[in-house]
This record gives sequence, structure tokens and C-alpha cells, in this order.
Amino acid sequence: MKMKIAVLTGGGDCPGLNGAIKWVTKTALDPRLVAKRSVSFDVLGVTEGWKGLVEVDPNDPKSRERYIKHLDEEVVRTWDRYGGTNLGTSRTNPFNPKNDRSGKLIDNIKKLDIDVLVAIGGEDTLGVAYSLHKLGIRTVGIPKTIDNDLTGTEYSLGFDTAVNVIMEEIDRLRTTAGSHSRIFVVETMGRRAGWLALRGGECSGAYVILIPEHPFDMKRVCELLRERRGREINYSILVVSEGAKPQGRQEFLKDGKVDDFGHPTLGGIAAYVADEIEKKTGFEARHIVLSHLQRGGAPSAHDRLMARWFGIAAIDMIINEEYGRMVSLAKGEITSVPLKEIVNKLKLVDVKKYYDTLLSKLAGVYRIAG
Ligand code: F6P
Repeated sequence: MKMKIAVLTGGGDCPGLNGAIKWVTKTALDPRLVAKRSVSFDVLGVTEGWKGLVEVDPNDPKSRERYIKHLDEEVVRTWDRYGGTNLGTSRTNPFNPKNDRSGKLIDNIKKLDIDVLVAIGGEDTLGVAYSLHKLGIRTVGIPKTIDNDLTGTEYSLGFDTAVNVIMEEIDRLRTTAGSHSRIFVVETMGRRAGWLALRGGECSGAYVILIPEHPFDMKRVCELLRERRGREINYSILVVSEGAKPQGRQEFLKDGKVDDFGHPTLGGIAAYVADEIEKKTGFEARHIVLSHLQRGGAPSAHDRLMARWFGIAAIDMIINEEYGRMVSLAKGEITSVPLKEIVNKLKLVDVKKYYDTLLSKLAGVYRIAG
């Protein structure tokens, strides 16, 4: 039996996606494995995520050439070394109630004779995969999001590289912060979950970390800075998630834009915090927004390894006919979970478990001792 696998990447890009595509392809086509299986595969790469599958015109060779790529071992051989996604990505939601294009999507999947879809993405992309699964399309998911907020898995591609970027940039900031005795407020990504700020801040020794899971008290942040000044050192690094908010306020919106899945663009919290620090303490403060730098560059060793394991596992799942599921890491082992269990939920930071609440319990601001 021959099956056609189509693989796509959706949502924000990150290092590790290319590795996952490579290992899906290599595992599907490895001649030693092919000889042992009752099924063989063709692998197609869909460009630009769900957009590619919605917009492709299967009857038009030019359109097929743009959106559907033939993948083989030679094509993907070096992909695991590089960041981004060689297939391209989009935030297209074919099930957006305001512009429902799911009919076209399903029609195209049939016309292209796709037997199974491997969707690599976060909550939004895998939510679409789950909707397709419910409609009878065979799907397998691979977790990816630098925010690391997918439930059902301990790891999602891109997180480790992003944490390393945060750490490296903070290392750089320290020298200039120290020379000028300045406070630096570093804004990380992380809309609703504070994992990036927390882990990035912890491993780089940030003095204060502010995350979306717990609204903070600006007065207390300033007190902590005053307490420290002159005692240990004259500069401090604060790390703040883009989705963090002061008590009694909503998260800071960058502009009025909302994506196809209804998420607004966040931004501005670091600038606010730095400004308040200057006003309230008189200490010189600057802010920096790490933004898409966190999604750039080559994958870390951990992301390369996870991409490899996840890609191999996705093909195992197809062979075992475990559809409607996402590859996952649980207690350090590769396993899988039903997509049903991971949609419409996020893995947030367990404040009680993961914060240093030494000062914060009383103060209402969460601080990781630096
Ligand atoms: O993929 C999630 C994320 O990393 C969020 O933390 C961030 O808000 C968003 O991507 C920004 O993505 P873009 O600007 O590429 O749409």
C-alpha cells in the first residue's frame, strides 16, 4: 500500500521546524525501514501552512508548484541545521467563522490525494488539525511554540533556542547596564504563559521576573530595586513577558490588530515598566524588546534532538494508525496524546510551584532571587 503524507508548519516560525520536517521525511522514506513495512510513503511539503492548502488550485500546475513541494531525503538532508521553516508558515485559520474556508481546504486535501496530514504547530495550528480529524481527515500533530504553553507535552519545539537567545542577550546587556548603573527591562514573548520570561530570567539571573499568570504591583517592584541598590550592585535586570500586566490593568496592546485566530498583537509592557521605574525611583532605566530575535537563528542542540525525536515519532504514529493525536514528551519519554485533550487549553506557569515567593507572598509581586 502507498500513502501520501503532507507536512506543513503553521503559526509563528521557530528553530526546530526544519529538523522535524527532515525527520518526518527521512523516517518515511528510509529504504531500510521501507523494506520492513507493509506500507510505503510519498512525502509532500505544503508551503505557508494552512494558507497553502486553502489557496492551492490542484488543477493548476503553477499553483501546485508554488504550494506543494516534493520532499525526499536529498532535499531535506541539511535542513535540521537551519532555523525558520523552509516550507514557510502563516497564521491562516480555515475555520475562522468570519471567513470559513474549511470546505475549500477539505476539497483540496481530497483532490491532492493526501492520505495523512502532519501539522507542526502550536495551539492554533493543532486546533485546525483537530477540527479536520473530527471531519474524518487523518492527522498527526507535532508540538511547536517558543511560548512552551501547549498542554499535553513537556516540550514544544523552539523553546530552548529562544531561552538561549534571552540568556545571551541579557549577558550582553549586563556589561552596559553595569557601566552606566542602569536598570534594564527586557521584554520577552509569551502572550498568556510566562515560561520564556521565567526560564530565560532564571538562567540569566534576572533580579525581577514579571509574568502574565500573576499581575504585578509596580510599587513593590520599585521597592525591590531600591532595596538592592548599593547593597549588592548598582544595576538590575528585569525580565517581563509581553503578556504581563500590572494589577488592575489589561495586557498592553501594540496596535489594534488581531490575527485570524483572534489574538491581538501585544507590546509595550517593558517600556511602561522602565518609565514607571524612572518616575518612581529616579534610577535611570532603559527597556529592550527581544521580539522576533527569540524566534531566529539556528536551533540549539536540544531543539535539534527534539525535532528528530518528534519527526520519527510522527511516522511511527502513522504506521500504527494513531490519528488525531499529537506527539508529546512526558517524563522525558516520547509518547502521544489525543489532540482533543490539548485544544482550547494552555499550559500556564504554576505560580505556587515555580516562583520564588520568598518576598512575593506578602508583597504581591513575584521575584526570582538573582
Ligand atoms: O508564536 C507565539 C508568539 O511567539 C507569541 O509569543 C507572540 O505574541 C507572537 O508569536 C508574535 O508573532 P508574530 O508577530 O509573528 O505574529
